[in-house]
Amino acid sequence: MALKLSENSLKVLEKRYLKKDENGKVVETPQEMFTRVAKAIAAADRLYRKTEDDIAALEHKFFTMMENLEFMPNSPTLMNAGRDLSQLSACFVLPIEDSMDSIFDSIKFTALIHKSGGGTGFSFSRLRARSSTVRSTGGIASGPVSFMKVFDAATQAVKQGGTRRGANMGILRVDHPDIMDFIVCKENDKEINNFNISVAVTEDFMRKVTKDEEYDLIDPNTHKAVHRLKAKEVFELMVKMAHKNGEPGIIFIDRINNNNPTPLLGKIESTNPCGEQPLLPFESCNLGSINLYALLKKADGKFEFDWDRLKEIIHLSVHFLDNVIDVNKYPLSQIDKMTKQTRKIGLGIMGWSSALAKMMIPYDSDEAIALAEKVMSFIQAEARKESLDLARARGTFPAYKGSIFEASNLRLRNATLTTIAPTGTISIIAGPCSSGIEPMFALCYQRANVLDNARMIEVEPAFKDVMEEKGLYTRKLMEKIAEKGSVQEMKEVPEDIRRAFVTSHDITPEWHIKMQAVFQKFTDNAVSKTINFHEDASIDDVRKAYMLAYEMGCKGLTIYRDKSRSEQVLSVGTKD
Ligand code: CDP
Repeated sequence: MALKLSENSLKVLEKRYLKKDENGKVVETPQEMFTRVAKAIAAADRLYRKTEDDIAALEHKFFTMMENLEFMPNSPTLMNAGRDLSQLSACFVLPIEDSMDSIFDSIKFTALIHKSGGGTGFSFSRLRARSSTVRSTGGIASGPVSFMKVFDAATQAVKQGGTRRGANMGILRVDHPDIMDFIVCKENDKEINNFNISVAVTEDFMRKVTKDEEYDLIDPNTHKAVHRLKAKEVFELMVKMAHKNGEPGIIFIDRINNNNPTPLLGKIESTNPCGEQPLLPFESCNLGSINLYALLKKADGKFEFDWDRLKEIIHLSVHFLDNVIDVNKYPLSQIDKMTKQTRKIGLGIMGWSSALAKMMIPYDSDEAIALAEKVMSFIQAEARKESLDLARARGTFPAYKGSIFEASNLRLRNATLTTIAPTGTISIIAGPCSSGIEPMFALCYQRANVLDNARMIEVEPAFKDVMEEKGLYTRKLMEKIAEKGSVQEMKEVPEDIRRAFVTSHDITPEWHIKMQAVFQKFTDNAVSKTINFHEDASIDDVRKAYMLAYEMGCKGLTIYRDKSRSEQVLSVGTKD
């Protein structure tokens, strides 16, 4: 197939992904970019004594699945593979110990990672509380929130020179003495903007919320209880702040650690910036996503998934992502070492809601949930098969002994295989197709801020196709839809099309969470998802969503109430 990229895809590629000469002139075509990436990644097979013929064949397969827009690795791989930088991962977690040395080392490491296009997550839970004493000086400690501001300023400063703006996740355990400060630290829209923040809540805390009991706040150094708070009051404040402007999010840290594949290597304290990838300190992970919209075929006049091709793509993608670990140039030797102990990869999907709509299946329907279960369990099972095959040829991940897989003799090459990423940029490159497992945001919309304020208008491709097929696609109608965002009340659009093309705000938070939960069930890592609320949603609605996500087995939750922040990445309509 000849490469057919949309205008927006080309724009994004030219801005950041394609090679440029010293005058800033683009000197690489998208095909050449895919060749560069395929070649660099297939080369890892040399380490496993593959023949040159085998490697050339593999390179061709890698190239083809990218050219067909069936699979995309995360942005740093597209940008940096086969080039001097060669930093290929999107996700990192760094440790922060309770010392000046550790804090400022971590800031330096963060700057290096951001420069190369990676994002960083941290737990600030080990830092002593604000106002506790500093032994060497007799002074008073600043506490986690004030150090977060230093990380934030460093991120801001690196923004200009790097490959893309740096993103951070800041986590604080719910039993840290500064938890109340942390929960409100982003109340003012103007501060700590280079961070997403999440409270790490424990099972014990959630139980005490339900029973309306108090819980202990623990000094991170002495591990002694220093204060008690009512769990419900803390929970209510989190809900109130999230309702106010979407922050903080929540992660269920005990649930994450129950699924930690390598407990002997330590506890998981944080995730990457968008929450989908829990990692140990100094661990990194590279992601890749299968574009389900590109894997539809027509049979008997209806669209369905091409399961055979999907299977091939899953196997190839796992091979690809495992190779990335070997050719990656890590920004720090500690990261190199940790990453190669567990060899985590994160294969996910994009184009889910575009594909559903094309199959005329409403996102908020039992049929969609059943299909989600079928698709994701298939991806997880086939990914494991490939990882088992790779382990036979290349060995298991080095930390396999003592891992949760040892008891069942599941000799995998990778400690985790699946992750559902936001696919914010790669879904533009591969599409446009819907991002991750998100519903379509609107059928016609403008995007802002994806790559530093570029504003772009797009018509959802599945919608365009269906409307064209019915002879209903006119510019005038599209303009009308662009203003509203939704077609639910438009008589000009036939009933079955209206039903299949539900957009984010037509879907209730319950259905959003149901979708996140069903994908989580078959995802080793976590699922990136925003639960969208109407502008007039109540605090009660948000509280219910948190409890529902907890009950349904999600690993975390991010909510966003429309118009609750002054800057919004996606907005409905063309006029604002
Ligand atoms: O589409 P793309 O591969 O560029 O990225 P994504 O799927 O939207 O985000 C995946 C991960 O990349 C995030 O969770 C972050 O860890 C990282 N990221 C980042 O560091 N900075 C950004 N501006 C965007 C993403």
